[in-house]
Amino acid sequence: MDLTALEKEVAEVPLDTPEAQAAFRKKFLRKGGVLDELFAQLRQLPPEERKAFGHRLNALRKEAENRLAALAEAHREALNQTPIWGEDATFPHLSYEVGGRHPLSLVEQRIVELFARLGYQLAEGPEIEDDWHNFGALNFEPDHPARDMQDTFFIDPQRGLLLRTHTSTVQVRVMEKTQPPIRILAPGRVYRHETVSARAHVYFHQIEGLCVAVGISAADLKATLEYFLEGFFGEDIPIRWRASYFPFTEMSAEVDIGCRLCGGAGCPVCKYTGWVEVLGCGMVDPAVLSACHIDPERYTGFAFGLGVERLAQLLYNTPDLRLFSQNDLRFLQSFRGYGDTF
Ligand code: PHE
Repeated sequence: MDLTALEKEVAEVPLDTPEAQAAFRKKFLRKGGVLDELFAQLRQLPPEERKAFGHRLNALRKEAENRLAALAEAHREALNQTPIWGEDATFPHLSYEVGGRHPLSLVEQRIVELFARLGYQLAEGPEIEDDWHNFGALNFEPDHPARDMQDTFFIDPQRGLLLRTHTSTVQVRVMEKTQPPIRILAPGRVYRHETVSARAHVYFHQIEGLCVAVGISAADLKATLEYFLEGFFGEDIPIRWRASYFPFTEMSAEVDIGCRLCGGAGCPVCKYTGWVEVLGCGMVDPAVLSACHIDPERYTGFAFGLGVERLAQLLYNTPDLRLFSQNDLRFLQSFRGYGDTF
């Protein structure tokens, strides 16, 4: 073997392709390459020549290693200098759209947060209900007008299956399974047989609240709801309490707030009264506690139902309820970026 020719090859052979580099590595640095053969020759040389020959072989190997190491280093350098965005760092970046939360979700989240601070826990129930949970356990007389087909969507009237008309169903479901103390909040969709208009829809969202324990009074109810309304709308929000009637509460009340769309001057949303109803509430009727196996001699409680669309409408000055269900992107995009702070 011509060592001088090999030395020249190691120093000069072009290594500008991956194939050339692989062949070079195989020939000079792998087992079975030329160096193996040359070291075998070394052992046959007369002792006085061995030393010098050995030096040349080691130098040859070192040189081969150095050439490949230099190439790897050059490659790393080149990578470091490649701009991240390809050839041109000033090229416009890919645009992408960030989604936003639906205004009703924003409002629901805010309500849940306010009540969570008072220790309320979330509960839920089905949208397809039976007569017992929607009406019977809630003390609706068998001939109560709300049971009429005019107001309620029945799925199977024979079996009493219907779309729940309010989230008060969840009060029943929770009380049937849990003994007091109870403090729950139940957001959900409800259905009513209405003509769709700017003010009414066949479905909308409510949030039910229920608190049952020893010694709960109407003062607790009032303080809780005023805390909520002031937290939601601000401390200067005008609040008006009105006596009302629900079959499942005794006493019953409705709460209005000063209309924020017209500032109380009168507009279609407040029917020109300056006030808008935002919730119904009352002390849980003892008959309802009994129907759910809770002792009305020992426990008292209050319940309330908030209209989520109504609160959203007042908060965001939305004139038409239908905007919340039409999914018109121009409307939804106006809430993009709203979140922790509305
Ligand atoms: N369920 C009633 C409604 O839909 C609201 C309500 C809830 C009233 C709880 C009193 C107590 O109108």
